[in-house]
Amino acid sequence: MENKTIYKDLQGKRALVTGGTKGIGKAIADQLAQAGAQVIVSARNYPVDTLAHHFIAADLTRPDHVSKLEQEINEKFGGIDILINNVGGLTTPSGGFSTLTDQHWESELQLNLLAAIRLDRVLLPKMLDQKSGVIIHISSVAGRQPLWHLNMAYAVSKAALNSYSKTLSSELASKGIRVLTVSPGATKTPPMEKVIHDLAASQGIPVDDAFQQLLNHVGGIPMGRMAEPEEVASLVHFLVSPAAAYLTGANYAIDGGSLPVVN
Ligand SMILES: NC(=O)c1ccc[n+]([C@@H]2O[C@H](COP(=O)([O-])OP(=O)(O)OC[C@H]3O[C@@H](n4cnc5c(N)ncnc54)[C@H](OP(=O)(O)O)[C@@H]3O)[C@@H](O)[C@H]2O)c1
Repeated sequence: MENKTIYKDLQGKRALVTGGTKGIGKAIADQLAQAGAQVIVSARNYPVDTLAHHFIAADLTRPDHVSKLEQEINEKFGGIDILINNVGGLTTPSGGFSTLTDQHWESELQLNLLAAIRLDRVLLPKMLDQKSGVIIHISSVAGRQPLWHLNMAYAVSKAALNSYSKTLSSELASKGIRVLTVSPGATKTPPMEKVIHDLAASQGIPVDDAFQQLLNHVGGIPMGRMAEPEEVASLVHFLVSPAAAYLTGANYAIDGGSLPVVN
C-alpha cells in the first residue's frame, strides 16, 4: 500500500490486539501503535519476525490462558482502553452438514465466539470502572452471507458473534463503552493465500485461476481484488478513534462491495 498519513489520535491509550502477530491483527497492531497507542499483542506463539509490541502468549480457546492474559494486563498496564478481538479463523472442512462433527462445531465456536466473550468478560470490569473503552469484534462477511459448501460452522459462529456484539453494545452504551463489529471479506493474509495456493496445486492450475475460482465461489468481488490487511486496519483505527465517538452497535463490512445486500 502507498504511504499514508496516520493521525496520532491514540496517544495515551492502551490497546490489546488478539492474534496480533500475523495477518489482519498484525496490521491493526502496527497501525494503532503508529497512531500513538501502547500496544499489547497476544497469540499462541511468539512470531518468527521480531515484534515491536509487548507480547503475551495465550491460547484464547483455553479459559485458563484467558485468565492469565487478564492478570498480566491488569498487573503491568492497569487495564486497557481498546480491545481488538481479532482471533478467529476457518478451521473446519468444507462440504456441508455431513462433514461437520460435534468436535468441529465446538472448535469453531470456541475460536470465533467464546474466545471473545470470555476475554470481554474479564477485561470489562476495569473499562466499567474508568467509564470508557472501545471493543471491536472482527467478524467476517461469512456471518452475513453463509456459504453452506464452504464455511457452514465458521459462518454460524461469526453470525453468533455479530449478535453478541450488538447485544453487548446495547448493554454498555450508557456506560461510556462502545462496541463495534468489523466484517472483512477476502483479505490477503497467510491462511487466505494458503487456500488459493492449495486450490491451484490440487487442480494443477495457475494461482491466478485459483484466485478467480475462489472469487466466483463467494459470488464475485466488484472491486476484483482482495483487501490488504492494512485497509482493514485503517477502518479499525478510525472506529477506535475519538472521531468515531458516536458510533456503537454497528457492523461494518469491508469487502470491496461483495455482500449482495443493502446495508
Ligand atoms: N483473511 C481473511 O480473508 C478474513 C476474512 C474475513 C474475516 N477474517 C477474520 O479476521 C481475523 C484474522 O484473520 P487472519 O486471516 O488475519 O488470521 P491469521 O493471519 O491466521 O492470524 C491469526 C492470528 O491469531 C493467532 N491465533 C490463532 N489461533 C489462536 C488461538 N487459539 N489463541 C490465540 N491466538 C490465536 C495467530 O497466532 P498463533 O498461530 O501464534 O496463535 C495469529 O496471530 C479472524 O477473526 C478471521 O476470521 C479473515
